[in-house]
Amino acid sequence: MLTDQFGRTHNYLRISLTDNCNLRCFYCMPEENYDFTPHSKLMQADEIDTIAQLFVKHGVNKIRLTGGEPFVRKDAAKIIRNLGKLPVQLTCTTNGIRIDDMLPEIIQSDFQSINISLDTLQKEKFLKITRRDYFDRVLRNIDLLLQHNIKTKINVVAMKSINDDEISDFIAFTKDHPVEVRFIEFMPFSGNRWSSNQVMTQKDILDIVREKFDFIPLPIGFHDTAKQFSINGHKGSFSIISTMSEPFCSGCNRIRLTADGKLKNCLFSKKETDLLTPLRNGEDILPIIESAIWSKAKTQGGQLNEQFEKINASIIEN
Ligand code: GTP
Ligand code: 5AD
Ligand code: SF4
Repeated sequence: MLTDQFGRTHNYLRISLTDNCNLRCFYCMPEENYDFTPHSKLMQADEIDTIAQLFVKHGVNKIRLTGGEPFVRKDAAKIIRNLGKLPVQLTCTTNGIRIDDMLPEIIQSDFQSINISLDTLQKEKFLKITRRDYFDRVLRNIDLLLQHNIKTKINVVAMKSINDDEISDFIAFTKDHPVEVRFIEFMPFSGNRWSSNQVMTQKDILDIVREKFDFIPLPIGFHDTAKQFSINGHKGSFSIISTMSEPFCSGCNRIRLTADGKLKNCLFSKKETDLLTPLRNGEDILPIIESAIWSKAKTQGGQLNEQFEKINASIIEN
């Protein structure tokens, strides 16, 4: 078991396959000329498999593929087929554009659930936020997942004056769509134009929902990031991920691997521990992993304050 000094065990590994993406969300990356990691510096498919096997041997039973956008990687299908053979719950967070292309692998590797990042239900606004015209394809792909009975969560980064006018529309979407819409508090990371007064907090969101809908909270699992609510008569549900206003670090079971093979023990941690170089040098990387996890900080979330804004901290790599 991969345990830290506060007794938290880590059985949930997020693996970033690439920092590249087929969208250019304004809050995530510049429109053009972004310096993506060259392929040779990325973990190769067999290296991902080797590292994942080691984690699985030491207690990991859930692996989430992330990016950038995981499915822009040319060998994504191969990586999924490899990881699909491991005794883990395999899943991903994707912008949904290439779900149709990847469906055979998604089905073959028995994905039970997929998280789709989608910040608006308006075609024109999608183009403004992402600077790419894929709205219709993403919506078609959400339907495709539902047709295949794959549990679908929609991640909505809630931002004032961007999509705060759509909170009720997203809730209305859950009436006939059996999806879980998850509103995420907007977080700062290096280079994004985050400002604390753009954050829609859990309270702001619930106040809006309350105006039109009656909802009841559902039970929360110890490791959950999202607080889920159901609405009478709706096939779907909604949740709030309150990373900024009400962090959930005490139940954290997550660790993450960057696309170039560095371990981050926390979403908010600036320290990265290189696993790929020692792996390529033939070293035993288990003690390196154990020590990186042991030193995980007790809490780093929930810093919704002026100081955070000033340092414009480097935070998220999906
Ligand atoms: P589930 O396993 O379906 O609950 O997914 P997830 O929430 O772990 O993953 P997803 O990629 O959908 O992430 C959605 C949001 O959850 C992110 O934007 C973050 O706000 C939050 N999140 C995910 N992982 C972490 C983490 O390790 N720490 C914190 N503080 N927030 C996280
Ligand atoms: N704040 C909150 N969530 C973010 N995501 C990307 N950038 C941010 C941000 N600044 C979300 C994506 C994806 C999830 C992994 O993180 O929408 O669904
Ligand atoms: Fe791509 Fe996700 Fe960043 Fe948008 S938020 S540009 S979908 S990596």
